[in-house]
Amino acid sequence: AAINQYQFDIQVKNVSRLCHAKPIVTVNGRYPGPTIYVREGDRVLVNVTNYAQYNMSIHWHGLKQYRNGWADGPAYITQCPIMTGNSYTYDFNVTGQRGTLWWHAHILWLRATVYGAIVIMPKQGTPFPFPQPNREEIILLGEWWHTDVEAIEDQGKRMGLPPNMSDAHTINGKPGPLFPCSEKHTFAMEVESGKTYLLRIINAALNDELFFAIAGHNMTVVEVDAVYTKPFTTQSILIAPGQTTNVLVQANQIPGRYFMATRSFMDVPIPVDNKTATGILQYKGIPNTVLPTLTQLPAPNDTAFALSYNKKLRSLNSPNFPATVPQKVDRKLFYTIGLGRDSCSTCVNGTRLLASLNNISFVMPETALLQAHYFNLKGVFKTDFPDKPPKPFNYTGAPLTASLGASHGTRLSKIAFNSTVELVLQDTNLLTVESHPFHLHGYNFFVVGTGIGNFDPAKDPAKYNLVDPVERNTVGVPTGGWTAIRFRADNPGVWFMHCHLELHTGWGLKMAFVVEDGPGADQSILPPPKDLPPC
Ligand code: C2O
Repeated sequence: AAINQYQFDIQVKNVSRLCHAKPIVTVNGRYPGPTIYVREGDRVLVNVTNYAQYNMSIHWHGLKQYRNGWADGPAYITQCPIMTGNSYTYDFNVTGQRGTLWWHAHILWLRATVYGAIVIMPKQGTPFPFPQPNREEIILLGEWWHTDVEAIEDQGKRMGLPPNMSDAHTINGKPGPLFPCSEKHTFAMEVESGKTYLLRIINAALNDELFFAIAGHNMTVVEVDAVYTKPFTTQSILIAPGQTTNVLVQANQIPGRYFMATRSFMDVPIPVDNKTATGILQYKGIPNTVLPTLTQLPAPNDTAFALSYNKKLRSLNSPNFPATVPQKVDRKLFYTIGLGRDSCSTCVNGTRLLASLNNISFVMPETALLQAHYFNLKGVFKTDFPDKPPKPFNYTGAPLTASLGASHGTRLSKIAFNSTVELVLQDTNLLTVESHPFHLHGYNFFVVGTGIGNFDPAKDPAKYNLVDPVERNTVGVPTGGWTAIRFRADNPGVWFMHCHLELHTGWGLKMAFVVEDGPGADQSILPPPKDLPPC
């Protein structure tokens, strides 16, 4: 296997968008950052040197990092941050995975500008299980703020105010021609009639679940989160922050210029979206003066589309790529997702929003949890995270405006090595219902069931798909509903799980699993690298 080496210099650079220039944190001065290209089975070394005045940490979103949490990256979970002037080399193997993933800063809101794609090609001589595309293209969907994202985060956390929404969506860092001063900040992709293109679409937005479509062109979904799916054709895709989706597009329309567009899916009471980003699919030889055809996207609150789209996602489950769904469950977990309020002395109204799992709002430690676990440091975390909420209630009934009095803590859940786990994530109507994309580090999981309303342990499991459910690393829990996932805990370490809406993560919508070592010599956490940043 090859060794792929990369140098990531964390640098602040002035970038202008929407008629304003502002300093942003970048990798190698690029926005979005460089793409990591590897082949399944390769070893990757990324040396990160921090020249910025911000602490940094990089996460390789979706890579399993078997026994190697040291390379996973979430600050204070698996490592302490790389301080200004320091370096750290992320050293990992890419095994048993192929497809599109991505990397991003995993500290505060810095991933707003510090992100890029990871492309894992299949092993040499192994073709894709779908028609070979003529070319491929990376489509990174993101968000742009006029203001400094650090200030916005502070607004939400320290002052307790609802933080500003972003000012534009972006496609490969560009908002497109519908925004002022953005003519030259338009992503364009040239195609030739008759050819097939593989688009590797990544949702790197901080807080928005997104629709994406290309005028006049269908897309065939073939992979999500670096796992092949049963192909299906659609006009639009829906993609939550953290997720990736590979689609095939055929240049089979009248040669011309076609908009591609992305905007939020917002099934909350106020569906306003004036930040649709557009790019252009341009047939070869067509002049720029031709007006592009407009894109049809589902309405911002089209929940029916969302439900039916998610239902179509199934694992390929072929002899070469079987879906290894755990049929029996050793450990059953049920976590409620709640929003609420908390008193706060620095906050403008004396309260701030907070979010919790099983009524526990997660408190970030000051030492990395993986180090504390590995070196057996006492007093950093507890492993008493409850397997179910303190008491059952009508989770999705009339809005329960009263806070349930969530507690705070660095509480983890301990999982026995190689046990099979089922986790039901239940949205609740504390304050308001909202959809939440949940991401588990260190694993893929199977999405065996989902539904609207309260999960019914007596009836719902009978309807699970245990044959070909979609396998992924980030899943949307529907607004006022639930999602059930299963995985085998075969990767020892400390693994973060959180809502991938940065706003909610900041409010405490996160926890971590401690997966114990197995008995075998090759079933325990690897020793930490020498250059692991000190706390
Ligand atoms: Cu993509 Cu913990 O994150």
